[in-house]
Amino acid sequence: MSEAVRVTRDAPLRTRNTFGVDARAPWLVEVADAARLPEALSAPPLRLGIALVLGGGSNLLFAGDPDGPVLALTGDRIAVIDDDGDRAIVRADAGVEWHRLVLWTLDRGLCGLENLALIPGTTGAAPIQNIGAYGVEVGETIHAVEVFEPSTGQVHRLGRDACRFGYRDSVFKHDADRYLVTAVEFALSRTPALRLDYAGLGDELAARGVATPDARDVADAVIAIRRRKLPDPAVLGNAGSFFKNPIVPAAQADALLAAHPALPVFRAGAAGRRKLSAAWMIDACGWKGHRDGDVGVAASHALVLVNHGRATGAQLLDLARRIADSVHARFGVAIEPEPRVIGAQW
Ligand code: EPU
Repeated sequence: MSEAVRVTRDAPLRTRNTFGVDARAPWLVEVADAARLPEALSAPPLRLGIALVLGGGSNLLFAGDPDGPVLALTGDRIAVIDDDGDRAIVRADAGVEWHRLVLWTLDRGLCGLENLALIPGTTGAAPIQNIGAYGVEVGETIHAVEVFEPSTGQVHRLGRDACRFGYRDSVFKHDADRYLVTAVEFALSRTPALRLDYAGLGDELAARGVATPDARDVADAVIAIRRRKLPDPAVLGNAGSFFKNPIVPAAQADALLAAHPALPVFRAGAAGRRKLSAAWMIDACGWKGHRDGDVGVAASHALVLVNHGRATGAQLLDLARRIADSVHARFGVAIEPEPRVIGAQW
């Protein structure tokens, strides 16, 4: 096989997951050009099947080793593929680091991704869990997702509707093995339509003395908030929010609110449903800043589990279960992990 496909046996994964836990892949196959996928998939070791598609490793927890070959798509091209002077379609390979893409678009005066600055991970992973922050979800800006379907060998372009985006959800999560995301197209605009509805964002801009922000100001404010609230995975291993905010029937949310008036309750995008703040409930159970050996909860944000050094994935999973159990015991609400757990059942 050519250099566009690189195979490593018994590959260490510690530097390839932002929790920084030890894990090993029996084979790691890196494919730089998606056009080589049919060839790579028909040869050993991928012919055995793919145990895991690895992006930036920022949304997974290795509670054990992957039990088969791991595939990483490493293509990193970004290009404007259509431009009418205002609206532009930007296409990025799956392997492009997400924050590099955000800065690339802002440098060219293209708006739409500014609220999503500094999210760790790759572009190919972004549509899978529909990454979101500070009032925006990536699905809103996605024009199409280019995928390879291993079972048929076909390439498809799925438009936004076909991706069925929801809160931290998409068609790619439900049909996890069907498609490999090879590239993503974004519909961006030179006319800013800034989204400042997230309360903390307006406060941050005001504190910076910015009265009429542009997209770059919004990205800078988001970066400042993230740096303050979320630990840098390069310094303290973590995978961002470990739990999704639970979505419950409105009547249950009303009852909880009556008992706990400070509980933040949000719209859930579906009639009769409400989204609750998992961070607030975890905080109320006393977990924020908790530390037990090398596993813990960030002192700056109750949703973020951290590895203080040599924590194992199994230890982190055990802590996560204890947190979820205590939230369930106190509030009667089940919270679920946001990252994918490898090598164990939740
Ligand atoms: N809160 C606490 N204690 C804490 C942290 C937060 O009580 O330690 C309460 C506060 O009342 C706060 C509320 O929870 O107002 C919401 O907190 P925050 O604004 O930080 O948002 P979040 O719901 O905890 C979500 C995303 C984050 C994203 C932020 C900002 C999820 C699971 N997480 O967190 O995404 O950055 O909103 O938009 O939806 C990620 O997915 O990895 C991630 C970091």
